Amino acid sequence: MSTLAVYPGSFDPLTNGHVDIITRGARLFDRIIVAIAANAEKSPLFSMAERIEIAGAVFKSMPNVEIETFDGLLVDYVERRRAQVIVRGLRAVSDFEYEFQMALMNRRLNGKIETIFMMPAEQYSYISSRLIKEVFSLGGRVHGLVPDMVEDRLRTKVGAP
Ligand code: PNS
Repeated sequence: MSTLAVYPGSFDPLTNGHVDIITRGARLFDRIIVAIAANAEKSPLFSMAERIEIAGAVFKSMPNVEIETFDGLLVDYVERRRAQVIVRGLRAVSDFEYEFQMALMNRRLNGKIETIFMMPAEQYSYISSRLIKEVFSLGGRVHGLVPDMVEDRLRTKVGAP
């Protein structure tokens, strides 16, 4: 049986922490879908089209990584795609409570789907999309923390540095 995993998130924007988890997931599962949630962020900085474009460009050389969008319940989407696994990244203990709640709620909603947690490389363990946007908009450097394409887009959207 081939294994299909779904890695859901807002990806506003994609960070190198996400890229690290997706790359690890692509080695573990036959296919992994990066599933961008349509309604997770009320006013995203990056449009859905941009988030799809960025993820598509970053993973274009990895044929077992697919990019999709979903709305509604994650478990319903995962079931529709006939995937067996939800992948989530765990950076620190602070992530645990929220992730634990989501994993157990998702299990209650659909007991056939397992959530698997993966840890990013330690150099990415403190990065979040929210922090990237905040630091960049206040003039801080985010080089090496996000794909170059994201850095370029941030510069166009937010301005220097
Ligand atoms: O990158 P994020 O913002 O941490 O991702 C959160 C996401 C999109 C995975 C979560 O909000 C989600 O699953 N949204 C879909 C709606 C849903 O199923 N909600 C119930 C989760 S228990």
